Amino acid sequence: MSVSPPAGAPLLVTCGLPYANGPCHVGHLRTYVPGDVYVRMLRKMGERPVFVCGSDTHGTPILVNAEELGVPPRELVERYHRHFEETFAALSIRFDVFGSTDSPENHRRTAEVVEVLRERGHIYPRTIELAHCPKCNRFLPDRYVEGICPHCGSPARGDECDLGCRRHLEPGEIKDPRCRLCGSPARPRPQEHYFFRLSRFRDFLLDYLEKLEGTPNARHYAREWVQKELRDWCITRNLEWGVKFPGSDLVVYVWVDAPIGYIAFTPAWESVWKKPSRIVHFIGGDIVYHHCIFWPALLQGAGYTLPRAVVASGMLTIEGNKFSKSRGYVVWVKDDYLDRGLHPDLLRYYLTATTSHTRELDFSWRLFQEKVNNELVAILGNFAHRTLSFTQRNFGRVPGEPVEPGVAEKMEQARGEVLQAVRDYEFKKMVDGAISLAVHGNGYFQAREPWKLLGEDRATVGSISRGCLQMLRGLSLLLEPVMPRKMEELWQMLGETIPLGSARLEAEYLREIPAGRILPPPRPLFEKLEDEKVLQLEAVLRRRLEEARARGKKED
Ligand code: 2FM
Ligand code: ZN
Repeated sequence: MSVSPPAGAPLLVTCGLPYANGPCHVGHLRTYVPGDVYVRMLRKMGERPVFVCGSDTHGTPILVNAEELGVPPRELVERYHRHFEETFAALSIRFDVFGSTDSPENHRRTAEVVEVLRERGHIYPRTIELAHCPKCNRFLPDRYVEGICPHCGSPARGDECDLGCRRHLEPGEIKDPRCRLCGSPARPRPQEHYFFRLSRFRDFLLDYLEKLEGTPNARHYAREWVQKELRDWCITRNLEWGVKFPGSDLVVYVWVDAPIGYIAFTPAWESVWKKPSRIVHFIGGDIVYHHCIFWPALLQGAGYTLPRAVVASGMLTIEGNKFSKSRGYVVWVKDDYLDRGLHPDLLRYYLTATTSHTRELDFSWRLFQEKVNNELVAILGNFAHRTLSFTQRNFGRVPGEPVEPGVAEKMEQARGEVLQAVRDYEFKKMVDGAISLAVHGNGYFQAREPWKLLGEDRATVGSISRGCLQMLRGLSLLLEPVMPRKMEELWQMLGETIPLGSARLEAEYLREIPAGRILPPPRPLFEKLEDEKVLQLEAVLRRRLEEARARGKKED
């Protein structure tokens, strides 16, 4: 088994599929923004990754919400599929394919994987006791049942300990099961289901997890779970909505057809999933179990290529509180951010530049304001504006004097730090490497005081200006993956005409801006975020918390 295919093998980057059951919130973006930043940076480095994602459309997360809203599941998933597509486009998160797990292609791919697993003896039937509600007279799969986690004692949902130890729970495993709809205690009732022989894959998984690349949190958690216990996995559900389990009335469990979506969404999928390739999954830290245990075992069992890396983010808190829609600790991307006139790149910057990818990240409007004002306005924006307006005022064009020694060296150093950080999946360090170049540029301009030399040594002034312009050009290349629109603006203010998105570091990073180029009039790149605006944004969150308290709703 190899998860390290040769450089140059097809490269696929995926992001965990959002359930198409509600609007996009800032918590979602901890997967999608770094995923997009990574892909853009790979392109800058000359790689040709394919970037796929799509809507997760099946399972009880969809059915419970559709039932609560009184709409058919298909209508719900179509509505939120469009919503996610529009929100991602507004945030410059650009997937090559954004598919749906309800597509005919995914139904086909899933049926094929299941058939192969069955042929190879990895699937068998077994009768199990399932939670049934005597009052509603229905079975209670997954999210229809609530109770206590048998492992850690936290309140849990039928298929996962979402508030406690985050373990996957098998049907019938939850303690004190109650019907989510009416609250009645559930009773066990026998039914035949199909199991995947996960227990057979223990040695394979321990070996695989040794080699798995990506962030250490993913392989560490997974290794611990595999070492403790690996039981066979129930892969069917008695629901109407989903991908039919071949030859039965059941559907497959959503955690089977959802990751198979990665395959179904991959253009020319066999060249990636049946051949040596480099597959990198970006996921939230809450779905490590599924991606590092179930998924590689399914792929191995059915004879598909194994992912090379799993990059798992830390969780997001809101103003220091655990994220919770029902308690009001949520920031909606469209309603609370984009529709209030905030620039998408500022949020991309905040999410990338605040803390390491694997650590918990707090979203607070005050911290957001500090990042924008102290880093983007005071460092990067200031360096850009003073350089561009000084050059414009005094030369009207790019000066012809050579750049002073030291500038290229500093630029090389920043590029080295950025590239190393990308290889380490350390996106904050990637931004820090670039920002250190802007800090250097500001210091250089300030220390050399070119405005004082205008009368006596115009040649030196020309060299200083040109050096600063070169650093700005380098910065727009290094930061385009994080702030594509803002850096395109900066790129154009430097008089560049090719799209920044297609410029490669190797060819472009140290390329000199031609002497004599006429520069367009500069505009400030970033605006200060005023206290008044922050107070308004905070008030929205406060109102939501009060409304939630008044509703007195239970935890979600
Ligand atoms: O946890 C979730 O939000 C799931 N919808 C993620 C699915 S990722 C993949 F495996 F499909
Ligand atoms: Zn638990």
